[in-house]
Amino acid sequence: MKEKTTQNQSNTNLPIGIFDSGVGGLTVYRALHERLPNEKFIYLGDTARVPYGTKSLATVERYAIENSSFLASHGIKLLVVACNTASALALPKIREKIGVEVVGVIGPGARKAVEITKVNENPKISVIATEATVSSNAYADSIREASKEAEILQNACPLFVPLAEEGWTAEDETFSIAKKYLQKVIEFAPNTLVLGCTHYPILRDVIQQTIGENVRLIDSGEATAEEVEQLLKDKGLANTEQISYNRKRHLCDDLDHFYVTDAAERFAKVAERFLGVKPSKLEAVEVFEVSK
Ligand code: DGL
Repeated sequence: MKEKTTQNQSNTNLPIGIFDSGVGGLTVYRALHERLPNEKFIYLGDTARVPYGTKSLATVERYAIENSSFLASHGIKLLVVACNTASALALPKIREKIGVEVVGVIGPGARKAVEITKVNENPKISVIATEATVSSNAYADSIREASKEAEILQNACPLFVPLAEEGWTAEDETFSIAKKYLQKVIEFAPNTLVLGCTHYPILRDVIQQTIGENVRLIDSGEATAEEVEQLLKDKGLANTEQISYNRKRHLCDDLDHFYVTDAAERFAKVAERFLGVKPSKLEAVEVFEVSK
């Protein structure tokens, strides 16, 4: 018991690691940063190998291990797998390899959807995500774990990723693509729709208008930030440095460090589009698995 407390105390000031296949995970970073202003973050975007959503299990697992090893080698107290596809496919392998707490976005998003939908007699939950996430059934399995009654419909919306990166958040073309992708979801008439991909919160308004105002949207990143806050409390891992009392925290300020595996300039441009600000510390790196 004593040993654990000592270890936690020395870990508390370390940053939280976050990785994504690219820039989309910044929506998860934003949710974490807003909820946990007293924490520091290290973000890795695997921009050289994005997208993950169309790749095989073996490939996504390998990339995920390499990204996790990179972040772990920089000293982190907790790892958030912001990428829905990597969370859906590679969480067990990451947990096997990495010696820190690992949180994915699927479980929190699924649990939040069930919590919100519980009041309904016949809960209907829809999930939109990448092809790989949909095929893995990870969301459907997690929703069923939390609710036996929920009816579930999943749908892949791959073009939402480039549309979000392009900043096409209100164009006619985006609305017409959304209408086509969401047709089956509209017919299913869910109570709740999970945004099961890092990029989809950027298109939130288009999705909400297309699906109708009475469907509740769940942002998995926000649900994850809520669970991470609780986990830090439960494990005694919250930062003890009081940084947010001494200075006002801003998104992408110099306490947070960003790494990409390619095209740093493009990352900075899209980051500005997503967050309204460019990262102050951004570096291009190569990642590979570091043996323990
Ligand atoms: N980050 C991915 C996800 O949340 C979307 C982009 C990709 O396909 O890599 O599933």
